[in-house]
Amino acid sequence: MAKNLIFHTFFTVCLLQNIAFLTNASNDDGRKTYIVYMGDLPEETPSLSLMDVHHNLLADAIGDETLARNSKIHTYGRSFNAFAARLLPHEVKLLSQKEGVVSVFPNKVQKPLTTRSWDFIGLPIDVRRNHRIESDLIIGLFDTGIWTESPSFDDKGFGPPPPKWKGKCDKAVNFTGCNNKVIGAQYFQIAKTLPRDATSPLDTEGHGTHTASTIAGVPVKGANLYGLATGTARGGVPSARIASYKVCWPDCQDIDILAAFDAAIADGVDIISASLGANSRIFFQDSVAVGSLHALKKGILTVCAAGNSGPDLSTVQNVAPWILTVGASTIDRKFQTDLQLGNGEKISSGIAINTYAPKKEFYPLTNGPHAQYVYGDFYFGNVSACEYGTLNETKVKGKILYCQEPGGDSVIKALGGVGTIMTNDQYIDTAFAAVGPGTYVSFSDGEKIDKYINSTRNPKVVIYKTRTVSIAAPSVASFSARGPQKITPQILKPDISAPGVGILAAYTKFATLSERAGDDRVVKYNVQSGTSMSCPHVAGAAAYVKSFHPTWSPSAIKSALMTTTKEIKIKPVERELAYGSGELNPTKALNPGLVYNNNIESYISFLCKQGYEDRQISILAGTKKYNCSTVRRAKGADGLNYPSIYLPLNNNESDVSAVFYRTVTNVGKGKSVYNAEVTLPRGLSIVVTPEVLKFSRVNQKKSFKVILKGKLLDNTSSLYLSGSLVWSNSKYSVKSPILLNYKTNF
Ligand SMILES: *[C@@H]1O[C@H](CO)[C@@H](O)[C@H](O)[C@H]1NC(C)=O
Ligand SMILES: *[C@@H]1O[C@H](CO)[C@@H](O)[C@H](O)[C@H]1NC(C)=O
Ligand SMILES: *[C@@H]1O[C@H](CO)[C@@H](O)[C@H](O)[C@H]1NC(C)=O
Ligand SMILES: *[C@@H]1O[C@H](CO)[C@@H](O)[C@H](O)[C@H]1NC(C)=O
Ligand SMILES: *[C@@H]1O[C@H](CO)[C@@H](O)[C@H](O)[C@H]1NC(C)=O
Ligand SMILES: *[C@@H]1O[C@H](CO)[C@@H](O)[C@H](O)[C@H]1NC(C)=O
Ligand SMILES: *[C@@H]1O[C@H](CO)[C@@H](O)[C@H](O)[C@H]1NC(C)=O
Repeated sequence: MAKNLIFHTFFTVCLLQNIAFLTNASNDDGRKTYIVYMGDLPEETPSLSLMDVHHNLLADAIGDETLARNSKIHTYGRSFNAFAARLLPHEVKLLSQKEGVVSVFPNKVQKPLTTRSWDFIGLPIDVRRNHRIESDLIIGLFDTGIWTESPSFDDKGFGPPPPKWKGKCDKAVNFTGCNNKVIGAQYFQIAKTLPRDATSPLDTEGHGTHTASTIAGVPVKGANLYGLATGTARGGVPSARIASYKVCWPDCQDIDILAAFDAAIADGVDIISASLGANSRIFFQDSVAVGSLHALKKGILTVCAAGNSGPDLSTVQNVAPWILTVGASTIDRKFQTDLQLGNGEKISSGIAINTYAPKKEFYPLTNGPHAQYVYGDFYFGNVSACEYGTLNETKVKGKILYCQEPGGDSVIKALGGVGTIMTNDQYIDTAFAAVGPGTYVSFSDGEKIDKYINSTRNPKVVIYKTRTVSIAAPSVASFSARGPQKITPQILKPDISAPGVGILAAYTKFATLSERAGDDRVVKYNVQSGTSMSCPHVAGAAAYVKSFHPTWSPSAIKSALMTTTKEIKIKPVERELAYGSGELNPTKALNPGLVYNNNIESYISFLCKQGYEDRQISILAGTKKYNCSTVRRAKGADGLNYPSIYLPLNNNESDVSAVFYRTVTNVGKGKSVYNAEVTLPRGLSIVVTPEVLKFSRVNQKKSFKVILKGKLLDNTSSLYLSGSLVWSNSKYSVKSPILLNYKTNF
């Protein structure tokens, strides 16, 4: 039950609104929205416009000109070739077989998944920068829009947008417009499920403003949330420009996400950051996988959140190998919210953002069962959890309630209670804001409080204002989604971890602190948690690397970030399946020494090996006719030059024998020698050939193979056996994790 907490905190509003959206959108003609995806734009100017081509295809499949015109929703044609239409099942089938169509996939709904954090990962405010190039970088954010009036987006000192910028700024009521910091703001609401005056690039959720300022906010001194987490709020690349693409309302639909890719690639963004996700789908049916591959072809790296459904296994999202997938780690700061009971006992397991200082020494305390609304014989809701409709207002007014689940706080506030103590055993590392004074304690402390209430004549309690406490870090956030991934299981995902717990960043004045009913606190800076918050840290670091190496490919930047990570100190049982290569380390990523490059050809060989059809690959790849039996065969256990090494083993396999082929490119000193250093779990052997790599010039490539051999011990207690390969010399160390996942059952 506590699993819903993330959902509560981030998405209560979303859910409610989404029901409304779907009701508005539903038509009873049986048609559903699909994306008909046709790969690259035609190279030569075709005789017919894309719109006509799409219309003819559609009219052919539907068999009626007018119906075809009415069922078409959108034409994508700035960066790739696709259209969205409302279709019946047999029309979907017809269209999928048409010449030129890669795939026809249903439109699905996705979810939008910092003071201290940049310092914590070692990017201090006075770090060495390449301001001239940094200020020409444009970061595209796919999110809930932006509130440009935030002090974090002040454009003082910024010149006009770089000449390559071809984007725009949509106009709308209540939206102040763009400036030289936020140079673009567009919204995408293709399905037109909202009233027209609600469509605007304005951020009414806070999420998009928070992520944008984490990437590229200018330094704002003394930012805080009611005195909490005070410091200088700033982004990773404060000189870079922001282009906001509003695709989440707050749910994000594939048709809008694809439209944002279509626009952003043509507009000239340098990095795309997308803190949103849905259950993984095969790449040809996944708007983020499709859009990001087109971005990659234009030299744009897409960074995505891994998802918030951890710690369960196989929850990781956005798993295409050309995406940089980011998990969430903790920083060295915890938001502790203490209690004291009337008997003097102090309780310190409370984690919450409680912005209220108590006005009295103590408040009367009670629990659900003692404040029950007695309906007579029939039962209505769970009173211990303080569910709506179970409590007697007279018995709640003026009191603090103990409720056995998160979520009771709205009810207590509405009934005139002064505060809520809830339990939360699952997300003990993540602080949420209650509606009104409140905190979340451990289950055992909850029991203690309940006992005290039951056994005391006038139970009393006080909830103190939150204070920050130093903790050991980093660890992986409990909510951060875990591998193994299901689409291309040989590739380790997430790729990397970055701070995503308790992050202070800019917020919109059009949302309340907790985004929950009954909250009236409007704040300029807010503390939020999620892989949505870690994603912009990595996108910011990617931009930082690009500002020193403007010509590096997306995969080179990705490799640089992955091979230079810091160790996750507090390791979860799932090891690399939780944190990937480790904790982001931006300054070291500037000088990785060697990089694992992949280009579009490598990904195509990989897709061939994965069994994608020739026809689909050809069209996705552009005009070339790919034939998987003639392209360079992807070799080895994973078939890709990936910066990490992962070997999933079946239930019945104990003999390990696998070969991985890799090629590194020298981006460090011209003349250099690297030695292979390996660590491996007991019982296994690793051979790297050659074990010395000698380079004589920059950009020189060297290939090697990694051979894993051995027998897993019957008594192996861990399902996750990790090791590493490090290419090192006196100046550089280029680290790849090696993970064997024992007894996976795909
Ligand atoms: C504009 O903002 C005002 C004040 O916040 C609000 O009352 C109004 O509904 C908003 N209008 C639109 C179209 O969003
Ligand atoms: C609600 O509480 C008041 C005060 O204790 C009591 O008089 C009333 O009967 C209660 N009503 C119900 C329906 O429980
Ligand atoms: C009420 O919720 C609590 C906390 O989740 C749970 O332990 C209890 O079983 C629930 N009671 C009923 C009757 O469902
Ligand atoms: C407190 O009393 C309520 C209702 O009488 C009961 O449901 C609950 O289990 C008790 N709590 C403890 C910890 O004994
Ligand atoms: C792909 O190449 C193989 C080997 O050259 C050939 O037999 C096959 O017909 C080709 N397939 C297509 C679709 O061209
Ligand atoms: C081992 O398990 C896999 C998948 O569970 C199965 O395909 C394979 O046949 C099994 N091999 C043996 C030797 O039992
Ligand atoms: C596991 O088995 C190996 C070989 O059979 C043995 O050397 C080792 O001590 C065992 N480890 C444990 C923890 O029992």
